[in-house]
Amino acid sequence: MEDLDLVLSDGKSELNSCSDSSTLDTFFAKYLSKKGKVSSLMGYMKEISKENKAAFGMKVNAIKNELNAAYEEKKAYFEKLALNKKLQEETIDISLPGREVTPGRTNPYYLIIDEVTDIFLDMGYEVKEGRDVETDEYNFELLNVPVDHPARDMQDTFYFDSSLLLRTQTSAAQAHTMKEKAIKTPIKIICPGKAYRRDDDDMTHSHQFAQIEGLVVDKNISIANLKATLELFAKKMFGEKRQIRLRSSYFPFTEPSVEVDVSCFSCNGKGCALCKNTGWIEILGAGMVNPKVLEMCGYDPEVWSGFAFGVGVERVAMLRYGIDDIRRFYQNDVRFLSPFKGK
Ligand code: DAH
Repeated sequence: MEDLDLVLSDGKSELNSCSDSSTLDTFFAKYLSKKGKVSSLMGYMKEISKENKAAFGMKVNAIKNELNAAYEEKKAYFEKLALNKKLQEETIDISLPGREVTPGRTNPYYLIIDEVTDIFLDMGYEVKEGRDVETDEYNFELLNVPVDHPARDMQDTFYFDSSLLLRTQTSAAQAHTMKEKAIKTPIKIICPGKAYRRDDDDMTHSHQFAQIEGLVVDKNISIANLKATLELFAKKMFGEKRQIRLRSSYFPFTEPSVEVDVSCFSCNGKGCALCKNTGWIEILGAGMVNPKVLEMCGYDPEVWSGFAFGVGVERVAMLRYGIDDIRRFYQNDVRFLSPFKGK
């Protein structure tokens, strides 16, 4: 019985000196496991006299229960400590400033498309959706550029096959609009969209770019209407003081054809780096719709006449925002885009 008391007191003091869960495990193995000190006390049973057996057994059980309860208590205590430590380590520091969310920006190329579109909507034009994949017929033939025509060299083309291509010009929308009309009525449309050419990319060329096409067809349309329209556009786009001048040019689908310059909005026409000291900046191509085109698209040129124009979007954006390289529009560089805010 005295030995039993000794096991209990030794066990208690060893448990007391356990300082962490691993020393606690050692204690468990030594005292409370199947081969531990408490279980092995039962081995003495055969040496105990019959009348004392019951008392001995009860005492061993009591020791086992007492040590076990103390062990469980200590185990729970260490587990709680470990949990608290973990929670403390995982605390979220709410004083840390949040990451800034940067809103997306509008590519300046779309700002120009929106601005030009708004100007022409105000003048009563409709916006026509074109298509990027075109047929040779609509991109060239109906615009008076038959197969083998030398004007094809002006626009090196991405062909899918002999009749399907990526449109080289939004002018393709002209032929669609005219042809689509079962009953021929006046037309006043613009078509903003992408065009593609097999150009090597450099500061002023891109294999993909945007244009805004315009087409007006009605009775008694003259070049005076073209000039007045483009003058109004230039003033709204580049400022009230702007003037335009028309220079003779060549496009197969217009006759006569002109290149349109606007008086320099940087120096008011005096001459500066932007206008290369000429006082004028070229902004678009235009002309009177070639009677052949009207005819091919079902409009009788004896009755109808019209004008058309094509604005290079990137060129206008580069002039407006002082952008020096056309490739910047397509590089998705946030540093380039960051100053531009949409509406
Ligand atoms: N399609 C021409 C080009 O890409 C631009 C152009 C010029 C369009 C004159 C027109 C126009 O509608 O009348 O070079």
